[in-house]
Amino acid sequence: MRTTKPALLLSLMIAVLQGAIACGQENDSRLDKELEAGLNKQINEEMFSSYLYLSMAAYFESANLPGFANWMRVQTQEETRHAMMFFDYVNRRNGRVLLTEIEAPQVKWKSPLDAFTAAYEHEKHISSRIRSLVKHARGQSDDSTDNFLQWFVAEQVEEEDSTYKIVQQLKLVGDDRAALFLIDRELAMRVLPPNPAPAAP
Ligand SMILES: [Fe+2]
Ligand SMILES: [Fe+2]
Repeated sequence: MRTTKPALLLSLMIAVLQGAIACGQENDSRLDKELEAGLNKQINEEMFSSYLYLSMAAYFESANLPGFANWMRVQTQEETRHAMMFFDYVNRRNGRVLLTEIEAPQVKWKSPLDAFTAAYEHEKHISSRIRSLVKHARGQSDDSTDNFLQWFVAEQVEEEDSTYKIVQQLKLVGDDRAALFLIDRELAMRVLPPNPAPAAP
């Protein structure tokens, strides 16, 4: 019995050491801390985008433009999906999602053109955030995050294009209320795509 105790102690110590080594290996697959913070920030950016577009939906409802409001409602849902994609990705990489306060959005705009110009400018801002994350991921040789972000690079082309086109249409119609009504009818057709955005790699 006396001879087995030191052997048991030794095997316990080995097991603890192996566990520590295994934990260290898990940590190696974790995200770079700064990149993790950047991805967390992007969750907030996407949630703010959703909140901003919901505020625009409320503005359009109050302006009796239900088609414009519908377009913004769909946009709100898309932005929440984007936030969830970042949420899921951070978790998959064994990172830690830390949510922060969402800034209050603007609540009034001078006109539909003013609101859509703000939406377009906001999308350009989001594109620059995505580009900066790509740069960071590449600086860390983090191919997985780079690959994950490429979906957003393509998505931002769409986001800028769709808001830009509506801005141009609104500039064309100017004060023509009948034409504005027609655009409202068109924007009422927008629906949330049935397939959610592709899962993060
Ligand atoms: Fe987005
Ligand atoms: Fe967007």
